[in-house]
Amino acid sequence: VTIRRATVDDLQAMQNANLSNLPENYSMKYYLYHLLSWPEASFVAVSTDVELEEQDEESDKTAKAEVQYVGVNEKVVGYVLGKMADDDTEADKTPHGHITSLSVMRSYRRMGIAEKLMRQCLYTLCEGFTAEYVSLHVRESNRAALHLYRDTLAFEVLSVEKSYYQDGEDAYYMKKVLKVDE
Ligand code: ACO
Repeated sequence: VTIRRATVDDLQAMQNANLSNLPENYSMKYYLYHLLSWPEASFVAVSTDVELEEQDEESDKTAKAEVQYVGVNEKVVGYVLGKMADDDTEADKTPHGHITSLSVMRSYRRMGIAEKLMRQCLYTLCEGFTAEYVSLHVRESNRAALHLYRDTLAFEVLSVEKSYYQDGEDAYYMKKVLKVDE
């Protein structure tokens, strides 16, 4: 599995992964808005398979099987959708980034993929966009994501936003101050 910058060609697969992994879903227009506005701030994790095709050659009595290279198949197994805050009504005018969405397909979890996606995104928001900190929302019940943000990546909980999610669940609003060397 490798991590690379997301491109417009990945958006459909990212949307599909989001639909499989999270109840918070977005229109294609919103994905496109991220890539058009902050093209360096979103990443995908892709697993690659080399596709080979067996071709039988029956030119003589002993049939020979020849393997031919067909191409490389890429499958998106995780993504992080990052952005800079662009809400003019927000009180805090400090340039800061925001993680809109992160997910990893079930059979690829607990392999460090989310951590790698997040670190790439944090680095780019800090170095490329001069974000002073990065914020995100996460469900109070989301133990896996909380572990990743709080324990692995050293985000801190700033506040609890009551009934932030459509089903009424509260969100932790989390923040990580970025330093140039992180
Ligand atoms: N329970 C406890 N800890 C966990 C769990 C779990 N289920 N899953 C991962 N962790 C820990 C790991 O042990 C690791 O800790 P360590 O640094 O102490 O070793 C750390 O979290 C990072 O693990 P990764 O392997 O990098 O995480 P993974 O690739 O499995 O992805 C994720 C974690 C993204 C939360 C995944 O479980 C997922 O896609 N869940 C569904 C979607 C989701 O909840 N996304 C986040 C929503 S919030 C938002 O989008 C802003």
